[in-house]
Amino acid sequence: MAILEILTYPDTRLAKKSEPVTEFDTSLETFCNDMLETMYDAPGVGLAAPQVNVHKRIVVIDIEYESSDDEPPVLSNKNPLVFINAQITKRDGKILFKEGCLSVPGEYEEVERSEKIEVEYQDTKGNKHTLQAEGYLAVAIQHELDHLEGKLFIDRLSFLKSKRIKKKIKKEKTL
Ligand code: NI
Repeated sequence: MAILEILTYPDTRLAKKSEPVTEFDTSLETFCNDMLETMYDAPGVGLAAPQVNVHKRIVVIDIEYESSDDEPPVLSNKNPLVFINAQITKRDGKILFKEGCLSVPGEYEEVERSEKIEVEYQDTKGNKHTLQAEGYLAVAIQHELDHLEGKLFIDRLSFLKSKRIKKKIKKEKTL
């Protein structure tokens, strides 16, 4: 297991599109475990492979990890989900949710997402699954899948808000 380096905005590698996973071997399993360890260490509720500079369609999520108010979060709440080659096949409703991102540290903004989704994905063995998700989990999946398209949550804000936050981050980085 290893903690991987997380890229942060404005690193342009975050804007690259990810490729589908075609080989379901032990190195994939090792990488997914490293991603989970990196996410828990951060701590965060989700991590997409491009955030650790691997441009493959791999996402890990655990929304239960941070759901307790304890600091640090209670480890026994771990419920890791791994999504390979995930595609959203159905969407229903709208939800506004305050999002943050390990690649955009310290920024939290409301983003509009679909409230309910159906997602088709593969596990680390290549087996296919379908999951119905709503609320927080649906938001987390949509946020992470955006990363695979090279998109951050700050790209989904209004033009002015997005511009203001990006300018602020770039300014902070050059100090
Ligand atoms: Ni993110």
